[in-house]
Amino acid sequence: MVKKNDISLSVDEVVTTIRVNGIKAGWEQWVLFMSDNHHDSVYCERDLEREHLEEAKKRNAWIFILGDLFDAMQGRFDPRRSMEELRPEYRREDYYDYVVKDIAEFLSPYNDNIKLICPGNHELGVLRYANTNLTDRLVYKLRDAGANIIHGGYGGWVRFLFEINGGSYPGYSMKYFHGAGGEAPVTRGVIQTNRQAVYLPDADIVVNGHNHNAYYVPISRERVSNQGKLYMDIQHHIRVPGYKNGYGNGRGGWEVTRGGVPKPVGAVWMRMYFDYADTRKIKGNNNGLIKLQFIPDIRGAANLADVTAVYAGKIYDEDRGGA
Ligand SMILES: [Fe+2]
Repeated sequence: MVKKNDISLSVDEVVTTIRVNGIKAGWEQWVLFMSDNHHDSVYCERDLEREHLEEAKKRNAWIFILGDLFDAMQGRFDPRRSMEELRPEYRREDYYDYVVKDIAEFLSPYNDNIKLICPGNHELGVLRYANTNLTDRLVYKLRDAGANIIHGGYGGWVRFLFEINGGSYPGYSMKYFHGAGGEAPVTRGVIQTNRQAVYLPDADIVVNGHNHNAYYVPISRERVSNQGKLYMDIQHHIRVPGYKNGYGNGRGGWEVTRGGVPKPVGAVWMRMYFDYADTRKIKGNNNGLIKLQFIPDIRGAANLADVTAVYAGKIYDEDRGGA
């Protein structure tokens, strides 16, 4: 168990527990759900990615990265590789090594905020075909620089436990799953909320990524407590779109030629806050009430440069001067 400030993180197989101690009136904690950054892709909208990371730093937020942080489709044996979609600084023999270093450098200013990094299908694809675990190497590197980051699974749980005025509050359980299945062009994957609501009865929050769509679907539930009291709650279903604008202007590229469509980009914030005044209204509740609020920051895709030249992706300041 690693203790830092008034938070303790512990891991028991697939369940990570974050316990917050000493909560007082007015306490709040922001959490940034990121997924599908595809940071090393030419189609990654890095300006928005950076904007969210900076905002997380300002808000002292915890950052969860839920798979496909890496794009990593340009390895020698990857059938999807394309010179047009390879950023110039990655044209190197040690492509995978360099991408790990590059992402570690990009994320290092946010080391104190990042709590969880999980693999997605892109990282597992590289593990399968090139026998290297990109997530593991990145987490190792960030931890080496002092970060306290959990290496999550493709799916897993995070429990948020709260200690308020010396008493314990049951908190919230979150199921994360990178995602599976295809494009879901008609339902945008919302149909998964019905399946997940059935097989994940203990989850208060269910977060997915993977198909680059976005939704927030609250499902209201009627419950009966162990003390025999009826109460209502909500299961929050969230789909995080990520930052990959793979469709571009629709002219060509991997996403367009396989029949992909334009997708939204962005991330979702969760705000946990202690509403003390509200607590006093609840009969028999001495411990307090932590509330949840979900705030998606979803934008329309930017108009990226046309993919007609050998390299026509956006050039960022850190690219200049090469590798
Ligand atoms: Fe993805």
